[in-house]
Amino acid sequence: MITKPKGTIDIYGKEAKIRSYVNDVLDALCEKYNFDRIETPVFEDSSLFHRGVGESSDLVRKETYDFKDRGDRDITLRPEGTAGVVRWFNENKLYGNMTDPVKVYYNMKMYRYERPQSGRLREFTQWGFELFGSNDPMSDAEVISLAYNAYRMLGLDNVCVMLNSLGDKESRETYRNALVNYLKPHLNGLCEDCKERFEINPLRILDCKVDADSDILKNAPKPIDYLNEESLNRFNKLKDYLDLMDINYEVDESLVRGLDYYDHTVFEIKINNSYALGGGGRYNNLVKELGGEDMPAVGFAMGYDRTILALAENEVSIPINESIDIYLLYVSESEKDTACYLAQDLRLNGFSCETDLFNKSLKSQFKSVDRYNAKYFIVLNDEDLAKDQIKIKDNKTKEEETISINDLIDYLDIHM
Ligand code: HAM
Repeated sequence: MITKPKGTIDIYGKEAKIRSYVNDVLDALCEKYNFDRIETPVFEDSSLFHRGVGESSDLVRKETYDFKDRGDRDITLRPEGTAGVVRWFNENKLYGNMTDPVKVYYNMKMYRYERPQSGRLREFTQWGFELFGSNDPMSDAEVISLAYNAYRMLGLDNVCVMLNSLGDKESRETYRNALVNYLKPHLNGLCEDCKERFEINPLRILDCKVDADSDILKNAPKPIDYLNEESLNRFNKLKDYLDLMDINYEVDESLVRGLDYYDHTVFEIKINNSYALGGGGRYNNLVKELGGEDMPAVGFAMGYDRTILALAENEVSIPINESIDIYLLYVSESEKDTACYLAQDLRLNGFSCETDLFNKSLKSQFKSVDRYNAKYFIVLNDEDLAKDQIKIKDNKTKEEETISINDLIDYLDIHM
């Protein structure tokens, strides 16, 4: 038997209903924040993700799904949403004559060759959004507000925004020098990957999973201590805005995020202080790096699958419908004919309806009524039908009423 590939999931039944509900909540919230929906291709030219996300990130070094297509083109499956959205932004030259920010959101499958575990998949979904055009810290605050409130609207109240700033180019360079000077004498105490990272991008050492708990990394200089005045003022202003909006945040001085494109704000959303349910930040240089013009931008992506897990772990009750409106039972062929067209009538008039497709005994059909948790059922009966009548029964109260078959829709409209 062929089984699903490692690190993928099938989404079915109740799980699919929960996801539909989550989508509805997120779509409605994005509408309130006036973000437009976007969908980019699942695969893009490899250089987009390699250059965009950064050659020094673990994501590009170890996790992208890269292959050649039949036309010998280098293709990469989308590992994250930001680079593709920036490609779209540039391709449509949206950086010209901007009078208002461009705000888009997505809900898309992503692909990373990671070691699968709970909350970490090879095919996973991100709900994310990007805001182009503003460098005002109020735009960082708007993005953090949308991310934070998305979790709260879903019923996850105990979320916290972990916040840090990497500063502008000058601050990051000063910090990089300080980090290099600090790490140089400690290199032998770090893993082989980190020795390589030291050569390519020393900042990436700070998100090494192997050395995470080592004293070398714990005592490393922190970006926040190297912010120039402008960057520090910007960071303080952002915190003021978050305070004004009553957003629960903590400054996490060690937070740097694993992708190369960030400057100034970086943030992650955590619940009960465990793994990141999502992350984002500002990336003022990416649009230009990918061929556009100077264009500030900021965004966020929610780990959708992790959020679904968190809903279950935190026992959030989700209003999903696990019943049907009506079940039609029958015995004879003519009763079955009625079930056939009546089921369609009911469905087209907005009622969820089931009937028997297995030619089961009446006793077994009654079991289906309960399995489907039907609110009403009708045992179609030739004698009643000859008089254009049916007997409809409330499955909870067991109250039965005889009505004209032509009044069925009206009856359900009134009673449901
Ligand atoms: P990221 O931190 O790589 O950022 O991913 C965002 C979120 O996606 C993570 O916090 C996590 O919840 C989820 N995630 C990542 N990898 C996996 C996986 N293998 N399985 C399940 N969930 C996963 C980005 O992707 C940036 N593009 C976010 C961003 C948008 N920054 C600016 N704009």
